[in-house]
Amino acid sequence: MTTRTIPVSVFDLVVFGATGDLSRRKLLPALFHRDEQGQIPPGARIIGVSRRSLSRVEFRALAEKAITDHVPKALQTPEVCHRFLNRLDYVSADASRDDGWADLEKLLAEAPDRIRVFYLAVGPDLFGPLCERLGRHGLVTPQSRVVVEKPLGKDLASARAVNEAIGQVFREQNIYRIDHYLGKETVQNLMALRFANALFEPVWNAAHIDHVQITVAETLGVEGRAGYYDTAGALRDMVQNHILQLLCLVAMEPPTSVDADAVRDEKLKVLKSLKPITDRNAANVTVRGQYRAGASGNGPVPGYLEELGAPSSKTETFVAIKAEIENWRWAGVPFFLRTGKRLGARLSEIVVGFKHIPHSVFDGTAGPITENRLVIRLQPDEGVRLWLMIKDPGPGGMRLQLVPLDMSFAKAFGVRNPDAYERLLMDVVRGNQTLFMRRDEVEAAWSWIDPVLEAWAASPDLPKTYTSGTWGPSAAVALIEREGRTWHDDDGDAR
Ligand code: BG6
Repeated sequence: MTTRTIPVSVFDLVVFGATGDLSRRKLLPALFHRDEQGQIPPGARIIGVSRRSLSRVEFRALAEKAITDHVPKALQTPEVCHRFLNRLDYVSADASRDDGWADLEKLLAEAPDRIRVFYLAVGPDLFGPLCERLGRHGLVTPQSRVVVEKPLGKDLASARAVNEAIGQVFREQNIYRIDHYLGKETVQNLMALRFANALFEPVWNAAHIDHVQITVAETLGVEGRAGYYDTAGALRDMVQNHILQLLCLVAMEPPTSVDADAVRDEKLKVLKSLKPITDRNAANVTVRGQYRAGASGNGPVPGYLEELGAPSSKTETFVAIKAEIENWRWAGVPFFLRTGKRLGARLSEIVVGFKHIPHSVFDGTAGPITENRLVIRLQPDEGVRLWLMIKDPGPGGMRLQLVPLDMSFAKAFGVRNPDAYERLLMDVVRGNQTLFMRRDEVEAAWSWIDPVLEAWAASPDLPKTYTSGTWGPSAAVALIEREGRTWHDDDGDAR
């Protein structure tokens, strides 16, 4: 099986924050992969911008190191490395001073009509000032787009302010708000599964689905990001964006097409239908946790407070929520959401739990009949598993067992799964906004999150601690078991 690569139009990509972590770990390697695959046309340029005073040669050396560190050796052929590094240029500039902007103007003026992408791989406080400068220096052409990363604000008011500032310079159709989960292969496969098969859509509703679970579990702690993380917490860092986006893709009505606005209109309706969580019900439908020291795969690990270097913090590193969607399709179907750091395994999956059969024709010797589940695994081992009851093979009467109909994408297709950024960066160049968040979506997500944050802030309770390497506080198990369901467990391990 080979992948199909359609070259994009020639472009200039300007990366602000080019020497930073995101650029080195994700953006430069993703662009390298696309170049290696022949998707980047001759003449396309990548212009790094940051405060650091570097020459073009020094920036190329930094990029070379990023490629060596983050791209498989076999792909780093001298020919592709040479071609890729030759695309790179560098300008030292930032939002707070005039120096360097004339250099950027001069470089971009060499190709005024080509597609221009400004990627702001910087903190959100710089989105507004950088856009303002781009406008002031006349760099925003009709072919220009801007890409911004989360966090887009820390609540609804700040998100509005950031969106407002970007909107002063760029029109909505030229603003690309990245949620890298939308670029993950299996997330896009969810659309294929739902809307390219006649099988699921007729049963994709409250009449047949009992509940849905969305888990995004990480084994890492906050690593070097404790400063940022302590002001954010898992609800802002993961639920407001990635998990709500997954929920939208599971729950939305079929869009009329995959056009950006058709899809985003449907996602917005889901966000607006979420039942509010306020101080009245937060204690019943949310659980906050914080990891303490324990063990991860490679041995003992410190607790969150030790990593933070502070005696106390109310910041949650784990969240579980029972969410409800108040519309015709999903009335009465709980969506259990769960995410956390330092959990038992790195695992992201969506589990669609179907209803119990209405009546069993089998006698007691057949054993219990378990409900069907559709498990969409995002990472690792991307794939889909449909759990079905079948007869135990061989003679000996009718005994039933639950087995997965298993499709591992790696096994089925044998191709490297592209990183989300590869797909998303090329979509920006193509001008395809389908996998990016629209302003109203981001704001609707904050509108649902804000009251949860307020309820937590008003509560005297601290997050419940959990040992690193486990599946979060026991209250998260109670949250789902109170409702008569259990967290999905693919391999028999306790989760
Ligand atoms: C980021 C969060 O958006 O997603 C991180 O800020 C988190 O805290 C990361 O670790 C997880 O992404 P992935 O692709 O590794 O699941």
